[in-house]
Amino acid sequence: RLRRAADISSAGHIRAMRQCRPGMTEFALEAELTHEFRRQGASGHAYGPIVAGGAGACVLHYVVNDKTLADGSLVLIDAGCEFEGYAGDITRTFPVNGRFSGAQRDAYEVVLAAQAAAIAAVRPGAPFIAYHEAALRVLVQGMVELGLLHGSVDGLIEQEAYKPFYMHRTGHWLGLDVHDAGAYKDGEKWTALAPGMVLTVEPGLYLRPGPQVPEHLQGIGIRIEDDVRVTADGNEVYTSVPKTVADIEALMRHD
Ligand code: GLY
Ligand code: MN
Ligand code: MN
Repeated sequence: RLRRAADISSAGHIRAMRQCRPGMTEFALEAELTHEFRRQGASGHAYGPIVAGGAGACVLHYVVNDKTLADGSLVLIDAGCEFEGYAGDITRTFPVNGRFSGAQRDAYEVVLAAQAAAIAAVRPGAPFIAYHEAALRVLVQGMVELGLLHGSVDGLIEQEAYKPFYMHRTGHWLGLDVHDAGAYKDGEKWTALAPGMVLTVEPGLYLRPGPQVPEHLQGIGIRIEDDVRVTADGNEVYTSVPKTVADIEALMRHD
């Protein structure tokens, strides 16, 4: 059922990506997801969907979905369906007009690399926090390369200097609830991953306009989220929606 929830959620995101055009409203894009979820037999959304254009993506729990999507901006969609009680939970961030700008691409590639590092760290026996730490290291390295932070990656992690740009953990258990039941820690000890556990992997980068952010990056908010099962020898990614720059641009090409 989780696999089916992931499949239908993926189809909803692909439909939204295909339909997106400058001048569309966030709620019209939300309706594309709802349409696909119901069409494929899901009962509806597993949680209040986020469709956030431009700097709205820097607001973590943006759910008003009432703005018009501007040409040249990104849109972040965090949505998943509920299928026979089980939840999908996917985030994609893509250009409203189908083509990333240079600055958008630079920031996007950092989050994509962080997600790849995190997924590679999901394996049986690893402490739950390991994939967050893997993502964080890549994100902080990227923050230095983007000119958001200055100093050594270890020092910046130690000082939590990344917090203005990445303020949440890299994922959570997924199941009947989108933030499913289950302990993350037993006392001081992180829960060890075991085959059959399902979790999300969702690093992000949130560059609210302000003096700490170079002007060309201001207002960029990116998160990439997939649903992952721990297997006997690693993991299996349940969700399947284009996420490389090339694959997103190819899917969105309208000619
Ligand atoms: N959609 C809620 C979350 O990503 O945790
Ligand atoms: Mn999530
Ligand atoms: Mn989500």
